[in-house]
Amino acid sequence: MSMSGTDARREGFVTTSTRGLRHDLPPMRLYHKAKRFGVWDPRAIDFRRDREDWQVLNDEQRDALLRLVSLFSAGEESVTLDLLPLIMVIAREGRLEEEMYLTTFLWEEAKHTEFFRRFLDEVAETTADLHHYHTPSYKKIFYEELPRAMNRLLTDPSPAAQAEAAVTYNLIVEGVLAETGYYAFYQTLHRQGLMPGLIEGIRNLQRDESRHIAYGVFLLSRLVAEDDSIWNVIDRRLNYLLPYALGVTHEIYAAYGNNHPFNVDQQEFVNYAIKQFSLRAERIEQARGKSLAEIYRLATLDVEEPGEPAPSGAAGAAGQSAAPGGEAESGGPGEGGTAA
Ligand SMILES: [Fe+2]
Ligand SMILES: [Fe+2]
Repeated sequence: MSMSGTDARREGFVTTSTRGLRHDLPPMRLYHKAKRFGVWDPRAIDFRRDREDWQVLNDEQRDALLRLVSLFSAGEESVTLDLLPLIMVIAREGRLEEEMYLTTFLWEEAKHTEFFRRFLDEVAETTADLHHYHTPSYKKIFYEELPRAMNRLLTDPSPAAQAEAAVTYNLIVEGVLAETGYYAFYQTLHRQGLMPGLIEGIRNLQRDESRHIAYGVFLLSRLVAEDDSIWNVIDRRLNYLLPYALGVTHEIYAAYGNNHPFNVDQQEFVNYAIKQFSLRAERIEQARGKSLAEIYRLATLDVEEPGEPAPSGAAGAAGQSAAPGGEAESGGPGEGGTAA
């Protein structure tokens, strides 16, 4: 296939071939799940109680909350802006099901960006410049490493470049930083019964993000299964970025003389961040030496979380009724990329 430059042309299409759409592929299951659970509206969240709660916070508490929201707002903005090169690479490889899922991914990041800006506009009612909350570790990740790793894909779509991008985006930014951040919102606000609208939005966001991370883990596992040397790329990148991810938490505490205005222990967050990091790394390392069919089976188990209804009807039927081992029978080389 040639999909770059003026000589781009196609040999055919997935949906008009005998192959059809593969609803049993893990990214397609995420796509169906996103249509059901990713449709919340940031503007429908009721911030009335949050506005009252804002009035009773002291200055340091307001500062701590503005800090956390400013990190999230800029973070969501940057993942919205920086995702496109990865979608471009996946589309050029002809992986239609993966790209279909990624359309929901990008839309969700846009809504997350909208949500945090809405909080700043309508609850904190601030138009202040908040960049001073972005400390050195945060800047290293969001101003440098994330845009660099993602935009590199525009000129270097190699598996190693894809792996470095997905580690940065899905494992460090979403898997460690965002998840530790949600935990911070729950431990500070929810524990004290404050800001129910903000907490409701965070819960929706976290559910969206669990799909994003599941896609990242799937992508990295697929890359490792296709080429075992990619594991070393992933391992090196994770260990390079981890100190900066932990540094973000450290710098938040340092800003308040290590006594956080909401009385939460720093070690609790560091432990949580490290636990998130180890879980993902172990999960991807399991992909070493496995076939693509096994990767699809493992990723499918990730998608089918207990307690959430699985996609039903015709869309999910192909994979839903099959035994877990029989779902990805045709995971040969070129899987997902054969039609165009
Ligand atoms: Fe997000
Ligand atoms: Fe995300």
